[in-house]
Amino acid sequence: MAYTKTLLCLVLVIASMASITEARKRNTTNIQFYMHDTPSGSNPSAVRVAGQPTNSTSPDMGAMFGFGSIYVMDNALTVTPDANSTLIGRAQGLYVMSSQGNDMSLLMTLTYNFVSGVYNGSSLSIMGRNPVMSEVREMPVVGGTGFFRLARGFALAKTYSIDQVNAIIGYNVTIIPYY
Ligand SMILES: *[C@@H]1O[C@H](CO)[C@@H](O)[C@H](O)[C@H]1NC(C)=O
Ligand SMILES: *[C@@H]1O[C@H](CO)[C@@H](O)[C@H](O)[C@H]1NC(C)=O
Ligand SMILES: *[C@@H]1O[C@H](CO)[C@@H](O)[C@H](O)[C@H]1NC(C)=O
Ligand SMILES: *[C@@H]1O[C@H](CO)[C@@H](O)[C@H](O)[C@H]1NC(C)=O
Ligand SMILES: *[C@@H]1O[C@H](CO)[C@@H](O)[C@H](O)[C@H]1NC(C)=O
Repeated sequence: MAYTKTLLCLVLVIASMASITEARKRNTTNIQFYMHDTPSGSNPSAVRVAGQPTNSTSPDMGAMFGFGSIYVMDNALTVTPDANSTLIGRAQGLYVMSSQGNDMSLLMTLTYNFVSGVYNGSSLSIMGRNPVMSEVREMPVVGGTGFFRLARGFALAKTYSIDQVNAIIGYNVTIIPYY
């Protein structure tokens, strides 16, 4: 009798776990947008606030871009690569030149704050390593607010175009909401 009850409980637990997994799959959200990172020009969207001097003739990427340098960004997020397309949000936060070697990796600590569309007023928090020379970079989504409260997920970044230091980055973000 006790054995049957235990078995029944186990079956129920497994069944409810499966339905949670199914529900999470159904509600997984995928958002795509383009980020405009413009550290140079008359109206930069990213500014260098601290760090070592850069050495443009050094063969070492870390020295070339100033290992230890910190930038603050407020970059526009748009629906197409065109800077004048619909603004859906802004990427606000920091990136740090955190690699001494030639792999040129950044530590990204930022929020995507949505200002239009269905996610207006909600935000996502990103924290992770960005090896910018790789074709596709993956960064963890560690949380969010509003629609994305307690969310988990990942962001895939791919450079769309680059003009000296100014870049347009395509983002594909997959978010699993919490409930
Ligand atoms: C998640 O999906 C379920 C079933 O498809 C739906 O009833 C529910 O409203 C969704 N939740 C959110 C937060 O969208
Ligand atoms: C910059 O790098 C070049 C090449 O490695 C080196 O010769 C030069 O001394 C470096 N300049 C500074 C200021 O460190
Ligand atoms: C966006 O629009 C402004 C004003 O019309 C224009 O000056 C600028 O060149 C446009 N930018 C792009 C990337 O098309
Ligand atoms: C986004 O939300 C804010 C605050 O609720 C509102 O003022 C604004 O009009 C909304 N923008 C769009 C494009 O829906
Ligand atoms: C975006 O990411 C999702 C999940 O990884 C994938 O299914 C989809 O094909 C990607 N889309 C693009 C345009 O890369």
